[in-house]
Amino acid sequence: MVPRSTVILGTGSYTPERILTNEELSRMVDTSDEWIVTRSGIRERRIAAPEEETSDMAVHAAKRALEDSGLKAADIDLLVVATFTPDMRIPAVACVIQQKLGIPTAAACFDLNAACSGFIYALDVAASMVATGRYRKALVVAVEKLSSVVDWKDRSTCVLFGDAAGAAVVGTSSEAGRGLLGTRLGAVGNTELLFIPGGGSTSPASPESVANGDHFIKMKGKEVFKVAVRIMGDAAREILEQHGLTADQIALVIPHQANLRIIEALSQQLRLPADRVFVNVQHYGNTSGASVPLALDEARKAGRIRSGDLTLLVAFGAGLTYGSALIRW
Ligand code: UT7
Repeated sequence: MVPRSTVILGTGSYTPERILTNEELSRMVDTSDEWIVTRSGIRERRIAAPEEETSDMAVHAAKRALEDSGLKAADIDLLVVATFTPDMRIPAVACVIQQKLGIPTAAACFDLNAACSGFIYALDVAASMVATGRYRKALVVAVEKLSSVVDWKDRSTCVLFGDAAGAAVVGTSSEAGRGLLGTRLGAVGNTELLFIPGGGSTSPASPESVANGDHFIKMKGKEVFKVAVRIMGDAAREILEQHGLTADQIALVIPHQANLRIIEALSQQLRLPADRVFVNVQHYGNTSGASVPLALDEARKAGRIRSGDLTLLVAFGAGLTYGSALIRW
C-alpha cells in the first residue's frame, strides 16, 4: 500500500505513423490475415522509422502527458522509464529523455526493466518515491521499439509486436480515497519462455551471436499464453480481494494488450462484459510495457474514464513479471 495519496495528474501516448498491416506481413513471411486475426486479434501495428529512437517516441508521449497535467518538464524531479529497448546499453534512456525534454539536472532519472509489466512496476516505484515526500512530481514513461529486436523472418513472433510509448505524470492529492489505491507486483522467475539471449553478459555481441539471431525475441507462445491467462486473472483477483472489492465495482479494466484471446479469458474470469474491458490490440499489437499506458491514455481521451471511476490495470510479461494497480479517478 502506498502510504500517501498519489494521483495521476496527466497521461500521454505516442505511436509511430507507419502502419504495418497483416496483409503486408503475409508478403514478408508465411502467414495470413486470417491466422493472425483468429489467433491474436491483431490487424495492424505501428513501426518506428529507422532513425526514430526509443527516446524520441518517449519524448512525444511525455510532452503530451505533461501538457495534460498542466506541468512543465522543469517541474519534474523524478523520471522512471520502463523499457528493454533503450537507445543504447548505457546511459539509461531516462537520461537521454531528460536531456531531450529539459528535465532539471537535480531530478533522479533511471530505467527499469519489467518487460510488459513495466508501466505498472514504474508507476508503483514512482508513486512510492513521491509518497515519501522526497520527490514531488514524477514522470513515468513506458516505451518500446520492439521492431528493433523482432526477427522479421520468424512468423511465430514478428506478427505480434509493435512500437509505442505511453506516459503519466504522478503527484500527490489532499483528497482522500482518490488516486493510486494500491498495486500488486510479482514475478515467477522464468527465463525460458520469453527472452532475448544475446547482448548481455551470458552472450555478449559477437559475429556468432548475430549469425545465431541471439539478439532477437524468442518466445514459446503456447506456454506463455497458458501462464498469461492464469497470472492475469490471479493478479486482478488478488488486488481486488486486498481492497475488499469485487470486479463489478470496476468501471474499466485496462489489461496488457498481448492477445485478444488472453483479454477475453480475463473478462470471463472476472465475469465482466466486453465493454468494461478496454481493447486496442487490433490497432497496435503487443507494444510490451507501452501497451497499458497507451490503452489508459486512449481510454481517458475517449471519455471511457470519468471522475470517481475505479480502473484496474493488469499486465504480465517476460520474467515472468506481473502487476496490477487500482486507481480511483
Ligand atoms: O507480452 C507477453 C508476450 N507474449 C504473449 O502474450 C504471447 C502469448 N501467446 C500467444 O499469443 C499465442 O500462443 C500465439 C498468438 C503466439 C500463437 O497462437 P497459438 O494458438 O498458441 O498457435 P501455436 O503457437 O500453437 O501455433 C499453431 C500453428 C503451428 O503450426 P502447426 O505446428 O500446428 O503445424 C505454427 O507453426 O500455427 C503456426 N504458426 C503460424 N501460422 C501462420 C505460428 N505462427 C504463425 C503465423 N502464421 N504467424
